[in-house]
Amino acid sequence: MDVYESALDLIGGTPLVRLRTDSPAAVYAKLEYLSIGGSAKDRIGRLMIEQAERDGLLRPGGTIVEATSGNTGIGLALVAAEKGYRSVMVVSDRASEEKVATLRAFGAEVVVKPGGLPRQHPDHPVSTAARIAETTPGAWLANQYDNPANPEAHYLTTGPEIWRQTQGRVTHLVSCIGTGGTISGAGRYLKEVSGDSVQVIGADPASSVYSGGDGRPYFIEAAGHFLHPETTDDVWPTSYHQDVVDRVIPVADRLALDTLRQLAREQGLLVGGSSGTALAAAQQVAAESGSDAVVVVIMPDSGRLYLSKYFNDTWMLRLGFLDGDKSRARVADATPPDARATPLPYLNTRTTVGEALAVLRARELGGAAPVLPAGPCPAGPDRRPTAPELTGSVSLSGLEAAIHDGAATPADPLSDHLAPPLPHFGYGEPAGEAYDQLARTAHETAVVVHDGCAVALITAADLHAAAR
Ligand SMILES: Cc1ncc(COP(=O)(O)O)c(C=O)c1O
Repeated sequence: MDVYESALDLIGGTPLVRLRTDSPAAVYAKLEYLSIGGSAKDRIGRLMIEQAERDGLLRPGGTIVEATSGNTGIGLALVAAEKGYRSVMVVSDRASEEKVATLRAFGAEVVVKPGGLPRQHPDHPVSTAARIAETTPGAWLANQYDNPANPEAHYLTTGPEIWRQTQGRVTHLVSCIGTGGTISGAGRYLKEVSGDSVQVIGADPASSVYSGGDGRPYFIEAAGHFLHPETTDDVWPTSYHQDVVDRVIPVADRLALDTLRQLAREQGLLVGGSSGTALAAAQQVAAESGSDAVVVVIMPDSGRLYLSKYFNDTWMLRLGFLDGDKSRARVADATPPDARATPLPYLNTRTTVGEALAVLRARELGGAAPVLPAGPCPAGPDRRPTAPELTGSVSLSGLEAAIHDGAATPADPLSDHLAPPLPHFGYGEPAGEAYDQLARTAHETAVVVHDGCAVALITAADLHAAAR
């Protein structure tokens, strides 16, 4: 009979499909979403569990614990279900709803913690998972960031599959780097088997630290390395073996998202955000290579996990990733030219009330201004903060009233006097709808977002004038 004995036999073994590109080089996508749990992480879920069983760390009746943005949890949860283990997954509230629902469907207990906390914070998913593992009898922490079985799974399966499927003709491997397991394991195998001739190329969200970015937030889930502004000691995963990687290409989120949406519409492949980042980098590699190049790009998961984000025009518009309907007055059209030309005032949580008053008066900003996190990121006044960095707001009238009432002194840090963050609108959103939404809040001022970054301030009056 041509049958499989269990779900575990359907992990990996994913196909390579040729993509149409503008270059003579051949580009093949490795469709990891066709693994049984829907991502490349099934491979590591299985090997990490089987290695823990062999090492005596996980015994019958045991509990598998992990901090995961989703896919590793799904891989672990499906293997746990098949083998009869309990699983507890800790995710940040920034993980997509679809991933969390999938974890629950496999029977995992899901603990949701706030996103955007520094690594050393006790509520960070990694610290929470470690605590749960320590205090639960029979628990084992998978720890994909530092578990040698993570890169090993790709060394044993992903790399050999690519070599076999291309009959040894692969010349370039392109992969995103999250924990680094995929690129390190598959990359090492392909280098060894090819006598070091395969080029291994990382694809990275442009602000991620791996490609030299400053670590500020970006919008591609599960790829790259984000640096929280309060992070004191930036630790890279030991699953990432930098010596295997020849080059890391930064890819702007906008390019990754455009590439991703185009792939679904033009080639019938619905893949996740990191696949868009990887494909944009692979297209660059292919454009730089000759017709004998065979570029393999890893597509780690499916776009179905991100229907509420990358394939949702409301989400895309709000973050300024779409141009919107140019036949109507848009937020971009309502933004006064001088507001577009002037950088946002740079106020962070450690700016004093006195300094903030001086900035707001000099800029004649009678309304409110956003307050950003202090620390190494954001790096300075000229850098455009991303939307998640809008941690709070202050206003000239609010601060003056607080001083007048004795509730504030000029030496206080703004962190003691923060109002909620200002609303933000994407530059492509219709001005009339933005006005209506702003009017339903207590705010007079909003932030205009372009390509995920805060670029200007706009008032309710600006929006109203443009929408009339
Ligand atoms: C969708 C997606 N893309 C990319 C990655 C990065 O892969 P790796 O952790 O092997 O570097 C992950 C890992 O979680 C992922 O889930």
